[in-house]
Amino acid sequence: MDLSAVDLDNVPPHIACVMDGNGRWAQQRGLKRTEGHSAGEEALLDAAYGALDLGVEWLTVYAFSTENWRRPAEEVRFLMGFNESILVRRRDELNEHGVRIRFIGRRDWRVPKRLLRQMDETVELTKHNRKLTLTIAFNYGGRAELVDAVNAAIEAGEKITEASIERHLYDPEMPEVDLWVRTSGESRISNYLIWQAAYAELVFTETYWPDFRRQNLADAVAEFQRRERRFGGLKS
Ligand code: IPE
Ligand code: IPE
Ligand code: MG
Repeated sequence: MDLSAVDLDNVPPHIACVMDGNGRWAQQRGLKRTEGHSAGEEALLDAAYGALDLGVEWLTVYAFSTENWRRPAEEVRFLMGFNESILVRRRDELNEHGVRIRFIGRRDWRVPKRLLRQMDETVELTKHNRKLTLTIAFNYGGRAELVDAVNAAIEAGEKITEASIERHLYDPEMPEVDLWVRTSGESRISNYLIWQAAYAELVFTETYWPDFRRQNLADAVAEFQRRERRFGGLKS
């Protein structure tokens, strides 16, 4: 990884990635869309190890959206099985590298029980790790998260404020997103972390997700460092 353009003292603590373009990557090669998802596994692992090397504390990846149920049943079924199998095959190695794995999203009836069980076991296995928190957004939608948070706050008898909503997000410990990256050339948010990314720097890259590697992450960090964040104020 070429880090010459990166200031290692100013690395964004929380990076979020929309892992997009698997289908187009496969189509370009005359493969089935699902083979694009399979090829995305290497990209995910490489990005996670890149995040560790860069000193990123939180990496949050979009694996399945609340809108992805609209896809053909065969692709949805594949994605459920594939995500389960990644957890089972990769969690030990991620655990050894000090990665804490968490999930955000709705645990509704459409998510297979066995996948939920593997998610729980993965969280349990890795919960003491502190180097990097890898959060997998699964059956996740930003609007659904806000609806769930507001309902939970009301149920707890709390007044609706920014602080009470934040307390009831899927992971209240998750910090705001600093750098928000989407691959595949699409310039849209697609319901990803709409609360947490309110002041994130957005970076859109042409790379299809299966071709994404730690260098692409480092390049996005370098781009982030060229930006000037203002949070509504003025440059000091
Ligand atoms: C992202 O790749 C993975 C998921 C949404 C699960 P896509 O499957 O959206 O790939 P494209 O956008 O069709 O190329
Ligand atoms: C967002 O990508 C969801 C994931 C990457 C999991 P999509 O491919 O589903 O988003 P749209 O449909 O292009 O907006
Ligand atoms: Mg897509």
